[in-house]
Amino acid sequence: MRMRTADPDLTRGPDADSLRRQAEALGPWFHNLHLPGGVETVPDHFLGGDFPCFKWQQIAPHLPADLAGWRVLDVGCNAGFYSFELARRGAGVLAVDVDEHYLEQARWAAQVQGLADRVQFRRLGVYELAALPDRFDLVWFMGVFYHLRYPLLALDLLAQRTLRLMVFQTLSLPGDSVYPDTRDHPIDDREPLLDPGWPKMAFIEHRFAGDPTNWWVPNHAGIEAMLRSSGLRVAGRPAGEIYLCEPDPSGDSARWRRTGALEPALAAVQALGRRPAGA
Ligand SMILES: C[S@@+](CC[C@H](N)C(=O)[O-])C[C@H]1O[C@@H](n2cnc3c(N)ncnc32)[C@H](O)[C@@H]1O
Repeated sequence: MRMRTADPDLTRGPDADSLRRQAEALGPWFHNLHLPGGVETVPDHFLGGDFPCFKWQQIAPHLPADLAGWRVLDVGCNAGFYSFELARRGAGVLAVDVDEHYLEQARWAAQVQGLADRVQFRRLGVYELAALPDRFDLVWFMGVFYHLRYPLLALDLLAQRTLRLMVFQTLSLPGDSVYPDTRDHPIDDREPLLDPGWPKMAFIEHRFAGDPTNWWVPNHAGIEAMLRSSGLRVAGRPAGEIYLCEPDPSGDSARWRRTGALEPALAAVQALGRRPAGA
């Protein structure tokens, strides 16, 4: 990890040197955190620029400046960049991730920034959130959907737990077109399904961008359709691939809810992670 210092005047003291050493020991980092003394954890990010600060700056103007009293769930929090920004606006944050390496970074960074009392980090996978009864004013679901083998299950689960707002981001297919009428088609009328604007996801059997945890890449029409189908309304698109969503009780999500499929499906996913007895 290469470390850049933003303000040389702030970095002369032993604190910045010590922070830099500790950050290096906790690497590699995915989030470039801006720590006291001008220390940054991964200033030359492979995604380009100051990641994820530049994404936060696209979204931040669309969020309330004062989040006092808001409960936030940050799913796949990584090193906690977004959790920290939301906590600085006054929110209480539950931040979860499956990867202990990132959680260790996040807990350390919370201490360093004096935010440990406002952000709780837990090692939890998204499907395990089904065991929590809580609902959240804001569900932050950025950069995780396409890493899931059962993405709609996670989206349905998180939509149910969203009281005011979900911030959703996924890797997506190129293009922005939306097929005008997806309500119903005769069984022999399949050409529309091949239209670039028909809601769809590309399945990744092996790896994408060298990453075997990338499973699905939806198109824009598919993203909006899945969000609607999970009971959400797209209220804004602050930047490419980023969707601001609100619960939409009058929307068109009743079809899957009537099936009662969510709980059994979640139980099945949990069971998939366990070896059958005797195996
Ligand atoms: C691409 S990073 C995105 C990090 C952050 N949300 C962001 O937008 O910058 C994906 C993160 O999701 C976590 N993750 C992957 N699968 C998960 C799962 N099933 N449940 C919770 N977190 C998961 C990874 O450990 C990683 O920290």
